[in-house]
Amino acid sequence: MRVSMMATYVAVIVMSMILLSVYIIGALTENLYNSERVKLFAKANIISDLITTTDDITDETQLSINQILSGSNIRSIIVSPDFRVCLDTNEDSDLIGKVIMREAINKSMKDKEQAFAINENDDNNTAMMSVSVPLIANEQTVGAVYLVESLSDADMTIRNIRKNLIVFAVIISILVAMLSLGLSLMTTAPIDNFIGVAKEISKGNFNIKAKEKGPAELVEMAKALNYMSAELDDYEQNRKKFVSDVSHELKTPLATIKLICDSIVTTDNPNPEMIQDFLGDLSDEVDRLTRIVERLLTLTKMDSNQNNASPTPVDFVVMLNAVIRKLTPNAEAKNIVLYSDYSVDSLEPMLLDYDKIWEAVYNIVDNAIKYTPEGGFVKLGLELKGKTVSVRIDDNGPGIPDEDKERIFERFYRLDDSRARDTGGTGLGLAITREAVLLHGGEISVGDTPEGGSSFVISLPYAVSGVQG
Ligand SMILES: Nc1ncnc2c1ncn2[C@@H]1O[C@H](COP(=O)(O)OP(=O)(O)O)[C@@H](O)[C@H]1O
Ligand SMILES: [Mg+2]
Repeated sequence: MRVSMMATYVAVIVMSMILLSVYIIGALTENLYNSERVKLFAKANIISDLITTTDDITDETQLSINQILSGSNIRSIIVSPDFRVCLDTNEDSDLIGKVIMREAINKSMKDKEQAFAINENDDNNTAMMSVSVPLIANEQTVGAVYLVESLSDADMTIRNIRKNLIVFAVIISILVAMLSLGLSLMTTAPIDNFIGVAKEISKGNFNIKAKEKGPAELVEMAKALNYMSAELDDYEQNRKKFVSDVSHELKTPLATIKLICDSIVTTDNPNPEMIQDFLGDLSDEVDRLTRIVERLLTLTKMDSNQNNASPTPVDFVVMLNAVIRKLTPNAEAKNIVLYSDYSVDSLEPMLLDYDKIWEAVYNIVDNAIKYTPEGGFVKLGLELKGKTVSVRIDDNGPGIPDEDKERIFERFYRLDDSRARDTGGTGLGLAITREAVLLHGGEISVGDTPEGGSSFVISLPYAVSGVQG
């Protein structure tokens, strides 16, 4: 492809050089011939003014003619009305007294006008230019002045220029060929590099980076490629981590189930009470497995299709109150005060995917109740600022250390593994919450309360068309 591109360049340049040369030579030839003709006519007219009759051409007239033509190689012939040569400035002329027939003479005699012709000279292949001016006396043609000049000088000039043009064209073509070769090497080397990198990426090798140098566009391209590679790498790492996390999470309840089963099998004559206990434990573990699988399904569903939110107009205040009502029994069981303190009384219906936002808010309030010790409080705040609605969920539990504030939104991430597990946590709640909020074009963050507890804030765009996708 490279070579053909270069060949095209060179061909285009060579063609235009040829066209240009042809044009220059043509224009130049015409110009030179034109000025030559004007000069010849001028001289012929001067000479014709000197002669009134061809019968008797004086020595004086002849002298004047020689003067007019001196320094040039123009030959002058004067003919009588019957085409007989009366005078020839060529010294060894054998034409005197003879009849001559020349195109220009014939024409000028016939039309009583000046005439002009270009002929090939048979002897040496040079072009000859001839002009003829009629001699008029009393409106009668009394002869003609005929001037002939070889165009060899003009032709020589043209030949020289043509030669120079050819040399010039060859040099330009070579330069262009070299330049385009250089240019194509300059652009194709990075592109070859990109192709190589892309192939490596498709094999899963993300360590190879495209070289970010050369022309600006190629640097941009290299950057884009490297960015893509980094993103893919990230994605691949995430995928691997996810698979291994899932396996790990499933392994624990499965191991417990296996242990319980083994205990039943290996116990001789187990009493019914003991079996009852074992079966209760088994049921708990199966519940836990079910919970994990359900939440994983929720997550992957949100992941696999960014456009799967089904927004409907939702009264957000009503939804928050419903979450509070639903979780009040859990709070009461731990003697926790669950209450709301909104700074707005009501909101216009917002376009939300009800189930997803419900789950997002529910997970956070549920966490707050779960991780806050007995006798604590959980407070829901609501705020409308400009085009953003924010729900704040504060508690006075143990809070979340700064170094974990980002990580708790990751899948399976739990601060205190065993305690979180005891509360039935899967470590997927906040991941689901974040997916749901991002799906709505919102944001989620966590901070601290003055009491040392945690303070989660979900911000959602307050617009009728607030759902992305
Ligand atoms: N209100 C809170 N106070 C203290 N820690 C919290 C709070 N909410 C979440 N966490 C911590 O973040 C972790 C992740 O939460 P989540 O994703 O909901 O998983 P889990 O299923 O364990 O609740 C929890 O295990 C817990 O350690
Ligand atoms: Mg949770």
